[in-house]
Amino acid sequence: MPLERIDKLIASQGALSRSDVRRLVRSGAIMLNGASVRDAGQKADPEADRITVSGQPLLISKYLYLMLDKPEGIVSASRDPKQKTVIDLVPAELRRGGLFPAGRLDKDTTGFVLITNDGDFAHRILSPKKHIPKTYLARLARPADETLAEAFRSGVVLTDGTRCMEAGLRILEGGETPLAEVVLREGKYHQIKRMFAACGNEVTALRRIKMGNLPLDETLGPGGCRQITAQELERITQEPTL
Ligand code: URA
Repeated sequence: MPLERIDKLIASQGALSRSDVRRLVRSGAIMLNGASVRDAGQKADPEADRITVSGQPLLISKYLYLMLDKPEGIVSASRDPKQKTVIDLVPAELRRGGLFPAGRLDKDTTGFVLITNDGDFAHRILSPKKHIPKTYLARLARPADETLAEAFRSGVVLTDGTRCMEAGLRILEGGETPLAEVVLREGKYHQIKRMFAACGNEVTALRRIKMGNLPLDETLGPGGCRQITAQELERITQEPTL
């Protein structure tokens, strides 16, 4: 593996910021191969070198799993020649090669995007055979009633004739512009917008709030990004609880 700055390497594991690491370096708490590190910019090989933080060995994980609250106007791609992508929003200390969004949200959709460098994991959660449930909040342009929930339950037929799988729908707020919670187990292009359109309604705002049973951390705020813990990662493949 290429050599990396010790402060960046330690901060990339998520528990400490680069300024925490610099403070620990000043206090002599960081060791590299048994010798105290004097400069936070010192380089180390994450595979070959032994780093300890306050006596504890630093376990470097090869894979990173991040939760991002995607704001409107950002594209769900690894790179784009003209537009800002979800990868551009990853904080410097968590950035590394090979990160990509596991699944896409439309440019105007906000909420939970999982970013990782683990291709197998992404494949598992995106595989159409796995049907990992994703939960969304949709603001609608027109009133909605229980017939809509029934239509979603029996599988909406899109205007191009495609039949969707059974989906969950709950009206959380009624009125002229209702708020609906939708649970999908597949991910067709613009699926929720097209499902509501096929039922004579229109989505005016869409937000993904949960993947499997892992809710988006709403304290992140638009553009906020943090690591997903090991326990949280397991919840992605579990059924959502209300
Ligand atoms: N359905 C949509 O229409 N758009 C999204 O971004 C996600 C689901």
